[in-house]
Amino acid sequence: MVHSFIKHPLLPSLLLLLCSVFSLCSARTVKIRDICSKHPKPDICGKILLSLPGAAEAVDLRSASLYVINVAHGNATEGAGDPETRQRYNACSKDYTDVLLSLARAKKSYSSGNYSDLKSNGAIVIKDVQDCDTKATDSTYVLLINQDVVDTSRIIVILADYLAGKY
Ligand SMILES: *[C@@H]1O[C@H](CO)[C@@H](O)[C@H](O)[C@H]1NC(C)=O
Ligand SMILES: *[C@@H]1O[C@H](CO)[C@@H](O)[C@H](O)[C@H]1NC(C)=O
Repeated sequence: MVHSFIKHPLLPSLLLLLCSVFSLCSARTVKIRDICSKHPKPDICGKILLSLPGAAEAVDLRSASLYVINVAHGNATEGAGDPETRQRYNACSKDYTDVLLSLARAKKSYSSGNYSDLKSNGAIVIKDVQDCDTKATDSTYVLLINQDVVDTSRIIVILADYLAGKY
């Protein structure tokens, strides 16, 4: 009986489902300091990760990734909905439409465990936002939101590398 259960053709999919739903198989905790040492602004990176509920010295990689994607999404929604951006920086609005799309894709790649795709979506967000930077140089507010999205997305890229097993 046990033997036939183990060989059941649906078992691999069941395990995969359990892995992705409860992150039973990939639970891995990493020190915030180690993650943020790979970030150009370790202090800001640390502050963002410490705002994750339950975060102390270390964070669970999968929870932290989802959290950081959501923080970036929150900032990007703010950027996309900002009336000044929409009226004065029409080109930036297009960048932000792309940013929101890439963040939605990032969430999908995260859910399906496609971490190389997660990484490239994080990198696309950074490029799009930097593109907006060049068009909104006279708006402190737009530049501030852009900076927050870039800082957060750099963490997404780092965490994607961790999840993919690079570190
Ligand atoms: C990951 O996503 C990319 C882009 O959508 C796709 O080309 C690739 O086949 C995916 N990899 C896996 C293992 O599903
Ligand atoms: C970006 O999001 C964070 C977390 O929600 C928030 O504290 C910060 O004020 C946001 N940045 C801007 C410029 O709205």
